[in-house]
Amino acid sequence: MNIAVVGTGYVGLVTGVTLSEIGHHVTCVDIDEEKVAKIKMGISPIYEPGLDELMQKNMDANRLDFTTNHQDAFKSADVIYIAVGTPEKEDGSADLSFVKNVAVQIAETVTNDVIVVTKSTVPVGTNDRLRDLLNKNLDNNVKIEVVSNPEFLREGSAIKDSFEGDRIVIGSDSEEAAATLEKINEPFGVPIYKTDIRSAEMIKYASNAFLATKISFINEIANICDRVGANVEDVAKGMGQDKRIGPQFLNAGIGYGGSCFPKDTKALIQIAGNVEYDFKLLKGVVDVNKQQQSLLLDKLNERVGSIEGKKIAVLGLAFKPNTDDMREAASIIVTEKLIEQGAEVVAYDRIAMENAKTILNSNVEYADRLEDAIGDSDAALILTEWDEIKKINLDIFKAMKYPLVIDGRNVFSLDQMKECGVEYHSVGRPAVEMVQTGTYV
Ligand code: UDX
Repeated sequence: MNIAVVGTGYVGLVTGVTLSEIGHHVTCVDIDEEKVAKIKMGISPIYEPGLDELMQKNMDANRLDFTTNHQDAFKSADVIYIAVGTPEKEDGSADLSFVKNVAVQIAETVTNDVIVVTKSTVPVGTNDRLRDLLNKNLDNNVKIEVVSNPEFLREGSAIKDSFEGDRIVIGSDSEEAAATLEKINEPFGVPIYKTDIRSAEMIKYASNAFLATKISFINEIANICDRVGANVEDVAKGMGQDKRIGPQFLNAGIGYGGSCFPKDTKALIQIAGNVEYDFKLLKGVVDVNKQQQSLLLDKLNERVGSIEGKKIAVLGLAFKPNTDDMREAASIIVTEKLIEQGAEVVAYDRIAMENAKTILNSNVEYADRLEDAIGDSDAALILTEWDEIKKINLDIFKAMKYPLVIDGRNVFSLDQMKECGVEYHSVGRPAVEMVQTGTYV
């Protein structure tokens, strides 16, 4: 199969690389010349474990190519994947202008029958409208079919997920096109679920909205645990043993971030609103998440009072570990509010620090080492559960002016913290007070 993938962002690049790994000839196309030049030299534009190696391997095997020329990419393609961005507009709806531009380009270029596959997350009904747009702009007498094939990859484990995912969803109103997509995807060895085009589009939104709901649910349970003296970790374990609930996505913390959940939940609220349906539950999920992102600050303020002039260490900046992605990370709001309240903020994240510098308030200082950030700070806030933080020698916290640790990801066990004699507050678990009582000054 000759496959073209439009967009070498996160989804497009992983899609192109993994499709070439299972034997297809893939040409990835992107308008960003600098990015394409770098990729051709083997430099991946994103941090994703295993991606660079697989990219180089398939380029060397001449199965994977990159270009900025759409015509070249589309010329001999049997299948074209659209994997361009669908950013959030101000009203929360998805901006489809990139997707539409690509569709017009495809229609004006293709000279043989082609299947257009939408990987980008698009509102329900978009693929039908895309088919009309493609057919309206066709320059040649060719047949175009449209397939919805949403992605369910997690950042940081996208390569693994491609080969070990729970399902591949193929949505099409053409049996022939669905069969072709099934054949393309078979070598992944992942169960394939075929359905109609609108249901496939909805599966993507419903899945992400449900996972976000699980997170906001357990976060509210954690907030109640805090007040009634229960331990949310034990509660989640006990709940998760019920197979109907399942143990995953019940980690309480400072809420979800990233490029998908925040955007997709808001988009689904919009999609529902467009057909006069008020998705009350999901609105609650979004509100809870917003509130949860400020939880550490609330806990800090409650414990310390004014933080003006205090030095606060912020440990972990990415929206989750194993990625340099800062999109919708809680660290954005936390650092902004700390600075607003007059604190001196010293941040550390080995991987996301460079990205953070372009996003966070310019008054944030950055430490080169985790230990340096903690140094003589007045309080340390843990925002991302990086392995590096999990494995830290806890004695380092003792070097702080006052060893106060507020953990937004429940990284350490309560026993561990009791033993090391640090004052420790986490999410939905009882606080660990100092053994030798010191006073916070
Ligand atoms: C997500 C979906 O998992 C994936 O299927 C979809 O295609 C894209 O969006 P990703 O954004 O990479 O993937 O991150 P994920 O690992 O799902 O985590 C999302 C956020 O939820 C993170 O901020 C994470 O910290 C948070 N989270 C996750 C929790 O707070 N608690 C949990 O139990 C799980």
